[in-house]
Amino acid sequence: MLFPDSRGRRLRATQNFRRMVRETALSRDDLILPLFAIEGKDVKKPIDAMPGQFHLSCDQIVKVAKQASDAGIPAIILFGIPDRKDPLATRAYASDAIVQKAVQEVKEKVPDISVITDVCLCAYTDHGHCGVVENGIVDNDASLDLLAKTALSHAKAGADMVAPSDMMDGRVGEIRQTLDEEGFSHIPIMSYAVKYSSAFYGPFREAANSAPQFGDRKTYQMDPGNSTEAIREAFMDIEEGADIIMVKPALAYLDIIYRLKQEIDLPIAAYNVSGEYSIMKAGEMMGWVNAKDLIMETLLSIKRAGADLILTYSAIDVARELNDR
Ligand code: PBG
Repeated sequence: MLFPDSRGRRLRATQNFRRMVRETALSRDDLILPLFAIEGKDVKKPIDAMPGQFHLSCDQIVKVAKQASDAGIPAIILFGIPDRKDPLATRAYASDAIVQKAVQEVKEKVPDISVITDVCLCAYTDHGHCGVVENGIVDNDASLDLLAKTALSHAKAGADMVAPSDMMDGRVGEIRQTLDEEGFSHIPIMSYAVKYSSAFYGPFREAANSAPQFGDRKTYQMDPGNSTEAIREAFMDIEEGADIIMVKPALAYLDIIYRLKQEIDLPIAAYNVSGEYSIMKAGEMMGWVNAKDLIMETLLSIKRAGADLILTYSAIDVARELNDR
């Protein structure tokens, strides 16, 4: 039917009509809040490149986890800022290290929220790469054991889910096998399966102090020009035992989210990364855009593209906004 019999504006005329025919809706159930844990007590140190985000000591992580839980958010994901770094990332898998302590405290004090842990070595190695370096090269197979050890230590601390973000080949299988052997077959793996080598991680690397000290991550993170490879990466991780497949970043990769949604039958998570967050906050600080509206529209777009879950630094604000509607 064509105009004038058909008029698209009829169902856009009132807020109620728009609500009734809206195809996609964000829900607080979709949200995962990333938090940065640091040693100390009563520490709440602003992260310059990410306005509104902080380095938080465990007591403060507990407070924010409680706020997130009260806002109806089902899960947080924890990143650690270790007290020291070394070539083998010892503080990634020590039982008394920062993420392990933060997990324990949150599980004890805010049992209602699920705790996911980021499994990677880059914030814990002195060279800043996501794996072990041998002769100037990131050694894939030598890194797997340490990644599996890290995931296991998180599970032992009480993590409800682990999320490997290192992009070493075979790490999902290695982690799955280790968790299964050690009595953690019930712990799901959310794999950063499709993680691009992206400039959008800039602010996070300041936040996590995890920039590589030489070279870049292009030998393990995906090339932004590739889309078919994303399918292959996702299927490899599914074969190895992944329960949720993540695409990262989100906004510049909506086509990848959409394509994966057509091809795989696991839940898809998308990471609305630091650069996406900080650009919007910066625009607002300049007085040029309304960050809140931009964020709501962006997350809705990520959902519309096919994401079931969204990791976002704005999760608490967004959940509260959704609750007020
Ligand atoms: C660790 C990791 C990174 C992010 C999540 N896990 C950074 C990187 O790969 O350099 C980025 C998150 C963000 O930018 O918000 N490997």
